[in-house]
Amino acid sequence: MELNRRTVIAGAAAAGVAATTLGGTAHATGGRKPVKELFGKLADGTKVYRWSLENGGTRLKVLSWGGVVQSLEIPDRHGRYANVSLGFDNIEDYVAKTPYFGALIGRYGNRIAKGQFTLDGKKYQLSVNDGDNSLHGGTQGFDKRVWDVEPFTKGSDVGLYLYYTSVDGEMGYPGTLKVKVTYTLTKHGDWRIDYEATTDKATVVNLTSHVYWNLGGEGTGTIEDHELKIAASRYTPTDSGLIPTGELAKVAGTPFDFRKAKAIGRDIRTGHTQLVTAKGFDHNWVLDKGITAKPEHVASLRDPSSGRTLKIATNEPGLQFYSGNFLDGTLVGPSDRTYRQGDALCLETQHFPDAPNHPSFPSTVLRPGQTYRTTTVHSFHA
Ligand code: GLA
Repeated sequence: MELNRRTVIAGAAAAGVAATTLGGTAHATGGRKPVKELFGKLADGTKVYRWSLENGGTRLKVLSWGGVVQSLEIPDRHGRYANVSLGFDNIEDYVAKTPYFGALIGRYGNRIAKGQFTLDGKKYQLSVNDGDNSLHGGTQGFDKRVWDVEPFTKGSDVGLYLYYTSVDGEMGYPGTLKVKVTYTLTKHGDWRIDYEATTDKATVVNLTSHVYWNLGGEGTGTIEDHELKIAASRYTPTDSGLIPTGELAKVAGTPFDFRKAKAIGRDIRTGHTQLVTAKGFDHNWVLDKGITAKPEHVASLRDPSSGRTLKIATNEPGLQFYSGNFLDGTLVGPSDRTYRQGDALCLETQHFPDAPNHPSFPSTVLRPGQTYRTTTVHSFHA
């Protein structure tokens, strides 16, 4: 039977019992205040804190370093919890070797070719950290910065405000960018991310979140049996450096067709040149709905064995699906298991990679006086 967690919690509340096995002290009527603890220290002595939040049956742990989701626990169809996001149990590993586990990504998610772009006639050179290209904001992107974190409870929601100011010229980007990200856990256990930013000079912005999902639980093996559905008829093929060629190619008749749910592993070994180049899926899907005023449902991920299902809604026009191709067995997670290729996947809502060099792609330019605003909602079911 398909069990909906909302029903279970409502049932527990109706029976007059706290939903302890489902969400600790969380109730359908509201979560508890976020709790702060010391997670570790950076080499220069800066303290990194971990915030624990719980609501509607979802448990979230967030670091002040990179806004990292260090753990995200949800129940399976029997109410058994697992941490479904890859990470580490200590700050040293994050600093030394994280491949963006759970992090907030900025100032620009994904790649900008040669780390260069021209805006209003002026050429900018960004920090280059991926071959010739700039990836995820450069060597010291938002994922490696300490954010100011403030907890909140609002009605039945609990959450965190995360603030970071990226100064003019940081990583080569023009303009001081003031960023506010809101992580909300709703009474239904949804994890919502609201991104906001303003600038004092024209710049480019593309913020996203880099959670590595394994709905069976981190460290439990491959995600090739997870079923994925993406509401996109086209994707952006890439060159050998994973930079979009500019073409919007049809997914029909290719391994990139996820319009109907299919197992990730089904077509991953077909030898399609795009999959060979990227060592798997590492592409931007052009969402059929385009940019929308409100978040709309665009993707579903389901683990048939646990029944855990993730649904993603966004107002962004693109979704990067990365099948964990660069995980190579050298990283060890909090449950002491190594992470191998395909042990997790990322679903990064975004504007398209390298948009500053493709006038035909939706624009990522932000100007003084404008406010950048995007929202992505993750909902969980079992
Ligand atoms: C994104 C990129 C990938 C890879 C990962 C991090 O998903 O598209 O190519 O860089 O981040 O390893």
